[in-house]
Amino acid sequence: MDSFPHRPTWAEIDLPALIHNLRQAEQFCLPHQRALTVVKADAYGHGAVPVTNCFRQAGVRDFAVASLEEALELRTAGIDDALLVLGGCYPGQEQAFIEHNLMPALLDPQSALRLSAEAERYNCQISVHLKVDSGMGRVGFLPDQLRDFLPQLQQLKGLNIVGLMSHLACADELDSGVTLQQLERFRAVQLMLKEAGIDPADIHISNSAGLSGWDVPEATLVRPGIMLYGGLPGPDFSNRLDLQPVMHLRSCISQLRTLPAGSGVSYGHNFHTARETRVAVLPIGYADGYNRLFSNCGQGILHGQKVPLIGRVCMDWIMFDVTDLPQTKVGDCITLLGSADGLSILGDDWAQQLNTISYEVFCRIGSRVPRRYAEGTT
Ligand SMILES: Cc1ncc(COP(=O)(O)O)c(C=O)c1O
Repeated sequence: MDSFPHRPTWAEIDLPALIHNLRQAEQFCLPHQRALTVVKADAYGHGAVPVTNCFRQAGVRDFAVASLEEALELRTAGIDDALLVLGGCYPGQEQAFIEHNLMPALLDPQSALRLSAEAERYNCQISVHLKVDSGMGRVGFLPDQLRDFLPQLQQLKGLNIVGLMSHLACADELDSGVTLQQLERFRAVQLMLKEAGIDPADIHISNSAGLSGWDVPEATLVRPGIMLYGGLPGPDFSNRLDLQPVMHLRSCISQLRTLPAGSGVSYGHNFHTARETRVAVLPIGYADGYNRLFSNCGQGILHGQKVPLIGRVCMDWIMFDVTDLPQTKVGDCITLLGSADGLSILGDDWAQQLNTISYEVFCRIGSRVPRRYAEGTT
């Protein structure tokens, strides 16, 4: 076994795979469009600072996070590129946005008034991206609300509206009329702003599904997230996107035991060995994001084969039946997510089994699992 300063469980982050996926996203861009990479939620669990630095080295200069806290983590790490804070600016955060040169998504009239007043107090302007709710039904100005607010907005001398943005609700459904309707509303807002003399430099609406499924030629930015991390935006995208898994969750066998036939394994004894069984025990569990729903049905990759998880997933331990791989020894590494030996267990595979989306799979890999950054992996 390699020697570890921590228990032998880690998530390997394959940086070349990340770049490969970025180039995939960029292939959908028109020459005047650039990628603003979404690194919120700790870069979907992959580690915000190293991932952002990797994208910077690959030429990206625009990033999006969810909150002021996430933005400050990047600023503290010396990342001084354009940072869009998708969650907007909460009361009391205005000064920090100005001080750290952060761009909030402008979600409502109240934050527009607060931000402008604070910027004027500092005798400066704050750059903002005006967010329009074109049909997501979540946050942002509704088109009518924006029309009513426009005369006031035009007077807010502390704001520099550098971007106009919206978000797509159903872009992962390639035949959805909702996206067409959203694009129509978004374009109507663009016109309305133009007529009011507001001409943001950047226009953007497309997430991973949007950019790989829909043409928005007037956009200057696209906002890929999940596809960068190797997850499909939806089942219809497997033929369109050639993505590589980025996160490889691995754990080494810490105990190897032989249990007689008929032994109960793990809490509840809802698994009993049918034969004399070699059981490999790994130091990882649901506290690390290895979902308890994998009890008796998870899989791992060991010595070029898939091995079955047996018994219930515990908080800190899981067990595999490795009887059919007699060469197995303590310290051997089992891959739980990602790829090894030419086999893979993708985030989308987990998502399907868990009835969720790969976004949640990656985000839930816990902070107890160290991320190791690799220049290339199997
Ligand atoms: C406003 C916004 N833009 C872009 C993205 C990236 O989306 P995706 O991960 O589907 O590419 C997200 C993610 O949820 C988002 O909230």
